[in-house]
Parts: sequence; C-alpha cells; structure tokens
Amino acid sequence: MTAKIISGKEIAEQIRRELKQKTDKLVAEEGVTPGLVTILVGENPASVSYVTAKQRAAKELGFYSIQDTQPASISEDDLLALVDKYNKDAAIHGILVQLPLPKHINETQVLYAIDPDKDVDGFHPVNVGKLMIGEARYLPCTPAGIQQLLIRSGTETSGAEVVVVGRSNIVGKPIANILLQKKDGANATVTICHTRTKDMAAHTRRADILIVAAGFPNAVTADMVKEGAVVIDVGVNRVGEKPSTKTPGKMVAILKGDVDFDAVKEKASAITPVPGGVGPMTITMLMENTLKSARHAAGLE
Ligand code: GUN
Repeated sequence: MTAKIISGKEIAEQIRRELKQKTDKLVAEEGVTPGLVTILVGENPASVSYVTAKQRAAKELGFYSIQDTQPASISEDDLLALVDKYNKDAAIHGILVQLPLPKHINETQVLYAIDPDKDVDGFHPVNVGKLMIGEARYLPCTPAGIQQLLIRSGTETSGAEVVVVGRSNIVGKPIANILLQKKDGANATVTICHTRTKDMAAHTRRADILIVAAGFPNAVTADMVKEGAVVIDVGVNRVGEKPSTKTPGKMVAILKGDVDFDAVKEKASAITPVPGGVGPMTITMLMENTLKSARHAAGLE
C-alpha cells in the first residue's frame, strides 16, 4: 500500500479561507479587529522563523498584530511587566510568548502571568484543566491542528486505537486528552508511549492512528507500523542545510520528521509529510484561537 499524503498545507489554506471570512464579518458587523502580540526573547533562529510565520499569517487575515522582540538579557520581572501590559490592552486578544525562554527566566511563571482569556497557546494551567474536563475554549495549537487533520482527511477517530509517541506538555499529553474526549472528532482509545515504555513497537503496531512527537529522526520505522495505519508526524528536525531555491546565495534548513517517511509511506494508508504536514496547521489554529478570543471579547462566544 502506498499512503495518501495528508497535506497540512492544503487543509491549513482551506481553514484560513474560512477564518478570513469570519474575521471580515467580525470587523464589518462588530467593529472588532482580532489583535495578536507575539513576544520573542532573544534570537534563537527557529523561534525567529516561527514568530515571523505567525506574524505573516495574522497580517494575511487582517488581524492587528504586534511583534515585540526583547533582548535575551531581559529580566523576568520586566518580561512579567510586559505580559501584564498586554493583559490590560483591550486591542490585544491573544498573547503568545515564544518558547523556549532563556535559562534565567522561569517559563512557568511567565505562562501563569498570561490572562487565561488571552492565552491563545492554551498553555495556562486554567486552560490545561479546562481541556481535561472537555470545557476548553482554546485547544493548544499543535494538538488542535492534528485533530483537524484527522477530521478533514476523513479519518475515523471514534473507537480507533490511537498511539501517541511522546508525552510533552505541548503535544503528547494534550493530543491524548483531546482524542479521549466524548466528542465528535475524538472518542478514541488512547495509549501514550514515552522514553520509559518497555516495548514501544508492541504498542505502535496496534495503532490505527499513530501520532509521533518523539523529538528525533527515525523514531518510528516501518516495522513499528501496522499495515493501513494513519500516521501523523509532528517532528521537525534540522538535519542539514541546502541552497535556497528562492534567494540565490542563501542557505535554508533541510527538515525531517520523526518518522522514516519513505519506508512508512509504503505501509500506512495515510501519512503527513515534513514539511507541509502538521507545521502549517499549528499556525492556523493560533489564528483560530485569536479570532475566538476576539469574538468572546465582543460577547459573541
Ligand atoms: N515553541 C515551540 N512550539 C511553540 C508553541 O506552540 N507556542 C509557543 N509559544 N512556543 C513554542
């Protein structure tokens, strides 16, 4: 079997068209423009490129968007004060602090400082707790994007054996929770594997839907996949550099997922590529959360 490629790029474009219509309606009928601030501390190249992409997406939808870049030397107190300034700014509906933060700043403290109503990443403990009991307004972006990929590719989740590889707070734990909920697009039987799992392949081979967020290339090889499984590869690994096809003389990163794509696509029924799979969905769901926050502020949800 050669797998169908689930294009996150195409699905993300489709969702962004829907979001653009809703945004235009909110602006025209309520006079409310969704506002997003992305706070970047330091110059980590991966963070710079993520934040740039988030800003571009916000502008394309007609959001009011601010890129607030701070030096890596900023104190924790100054960063907390900055978050508080945006908490109080009525034009801002979403606050995103790009992670990771420099070592001298307590990430948890900063995430706790964001007003849960403006926490469009869904990382504040109030929102994590609401997700667990099925009451979330904001689903964290990467897991929300994975769920949309499954729904919009026609993958049945109800009663499916889902195996998640990786137990991070950003991907593994929330996607397991989301797919476990008694809701449409969920109702799965979920197993989470991690670094202390005894026989990982024994678990992954049972998966109808295999979600891989392990954090290193080739974490999942073809022998670990059931014939006909749907495979979602969340990994983004920079494995080298190549000359840019767009800008002569510039080098760009060569990206690879956590799944041995070439071998696994011969066994799976559907698979997401890297790049162009989960990545574009994460940014799209951030836009959806920001729009939701603006609609909430306007008394519409
Ligand atoms: N760093 C890597 N992924 C993310 C994300 O989804 N949100 C934030 N704020 N930082 C990240």
